Amino acid sequence: MPRGYFITFEGLDGSGKTTQLRRLATTLEADGHTVVTLRQPGGTALGDRIRSVLLDSKSEAALGPIAPAAEMALMFADRAQSIAEVILPALDAGSIILCDRYTDSSEAYQGGGRQLGSERILAMHAAACDNLQPDLTILLLPSLESSLRRARRRNQRHVEQKGTDENRFERESDDFYRRIYEKYEEIAARESHRVAVIRDDASIDHIQTLIHELVSARIPAPATK
Ligand code: TYD
Repeated sequence: MPRGYFITFEGLDGSGKTTQLRRLATTLEADGHTVVTLRQPGGTALGDRIRSVLLDSKSEAALGPIAPAAEMALMFADRAQSIAEVILPALDAGSIILCDRYTDSSEAYQGGGRQLGSERILAMHAAACDNLQPDLTILLLPSLESSLRRARRRNQRHVEQKGTDENRFERESDDFYRRIYEKYEEIAARESHRVAVIRDDASIDHIQTLIHELVSARIPAPATK
């Protein structure tokens, strides 16, 4: 069996990457590919437990504030489990994996946002993930102003729908998101062979087309039987 293809989606909260991931999965399946989707944190039984500890601010009320290094280690515990349980088996089976966030999120959020720095994150990535890198990363990064606006809008929606106690990350300030944005820029410049940046603030349909073109240029449609 040929090795599959590993694609990750990255961006700030509210960047629309989850919608684009779903649409790409549908298109690739229609093209005849086998597609496996997952999100981080989460996607395995252990990962779902870790996700609720990490994202639910109610658990913070029960556990106390989570130290940045503990947050980083939990993100990587989740990732190591999904590599073993989902990603490597799917790659071995020749599937296309679409993963909503991966190590770039840890570098941007914990390394940049929480100011742990890139070196610690990359050392964790080597230790926990054996440096497994995606073949392609689609980074949705419209202008900083529009990204901040979207993140704020999303916060507001969450507050209106679920009360203020929904998502620890979404309660963060503009400065936190600015640091994340800058770290994403840094990653994109450093790893330009892997990271495709979409800076467009265009319609969902237009971005979907851009992404499909990008991906189909790299993965040939499967041979028809
Ligand atoms: P989620 O509800 O999945 O948000 P989104 O749709 O924006 O991906 O929450 C994931 C949150 O976890 C998001 O705010 C980013 C954060 N995160 C990190 O801080 N570090 C990480 O390594 C990962 C994977 C996510």
